Amino acid sequence: MPQSISLPDAWRNSDAPVRRFFAPGRVNLIGEHLDYNGSRVMPAAINRGINAWVRTLAERVWRLHSDGHPEAVAIPLDPIPQPHALSGWANHAAGVLALLQESGLTIQGLEIWLKSDLPEGAGLSSSAAFEMLLAWIGFRYAGITPDRTALALLSQQVEARFLGVQCGIMDPYAVGHGKPGMAMLLDCARLVHTDIPAQIIDYQWVILNANKARTLAGSAYNQRRKACEAAAAHLGLTKLADLQDPERIRTLPDPDWQAAARHVYSETRRVTEAASALQKQDVLTLGSILNDSHASLRDDYAVSCIEMDVLVTAAQQHPACAGARMTGAGFGGCAVALVKKEGLPGFSKAVETTYQRATGLKTDIFSVEWVAGVGEIE
Ligand code: GLA
Repeated sequence: MPQSISLPDAWRNSDAPVRRFFAPGRVNLIGEHLDYNGSRVMPAAINRGINAWVRTLAERVWRLHSDGHPEAVAIPLDPIPQPHALSGWANHAAGVLALLQESGLTIQGLEIWLKSDLPEGAGLSSSAAFEMLLAWIGFRYAGITPDRTALALLSQQVEARFLGVQCGIMDPYAVGHGKPGMAMLLDCARLVHTDIPAQIIDYQWVILNANKARTLAGSAYNQRRKACEAAAAHLGLTKLADLQDPERIRTLPDPDWQAAARHVYSETRRVTEAASALQKQDVLTLGSILNDSHASLRDDYAVSCIEMDVLVTAAQQHPACAGARMTGAGFGGCAVALVKKEGLPGFSKAVETTYQRATGLKTDIFSVEWVAGVGEIE
């Protein structure tokens, strides 16, 4: 459940009815950089996210306030601004509104107050959460309950057309389809998933924020994606997920394509192994799969960074930790670790100290639970 955050003071005496919505962030447990290659991934919606309080406006505008952004923004509905006409979070919001309008929805003027406890740009899908939240609100104020997968596709389009990031479907899908206590095994080619219980007895899933600003995230992400597409095309495959014989990787003419194919091939198999280890509560196997995934993202796919490697190594070396890896696109952001509950205080202290000594940066470590996807809080 979202945290017990209360109605903004300025709205306490509002005459207009106020409705409340919540969109969670997500953490990807395993299957990194696989969604756009058509493999399976295993994300889960987390109990941190974005709360929204909403009331209608007579004006033809969406007026957004956020505790995290001092300036309110107003997005006109007639017409909705073009991609990049606005900047930052207003550009995301304009993207959602533009696509809602294209889908034929009648959009009402609204005032929205946002409060978030999801770190922004940290690999926990703050932007998918924001887009899914606004899209859900737009539909609900038109009296429609949207299809969660269709909504995820809309958010993915916002990223491509308004942000220029050719991201996959995993993030908005996870924000849309979360279930309490569950991760999801999502088939990114067919856009179907099965819920998979993702709690381990005596263990706790933990997020570690490297607090390292992500650089090159958009452009390097698109480059990796291109390398995968080029490798698949060279091998005569529609998607790299279909590669069955790893010997064929050596026939690729470009070392970057080879490295990308190695990562996709091995990570695809790790997802299947991790799902089975999770079902058996086999924490040792699951932990070592997480560690292998990090090594592959660092050495083959080259999407980690020095700070993240220090953080993940410090986590992995602590005796209470079963395994740890970077999560999300990479180039900074967050790691996810599976830690024995009784060792958690010692783990946090040791990792914080090691990380600060080695990098001069402070990590934020917090436990996460799995929650329901975007929706209205009654
Ligand atoms: C980002 C993208 C996702 C996915 C991950 C890497 O979060 O938005 O689609 O590709 O990176 O797994």
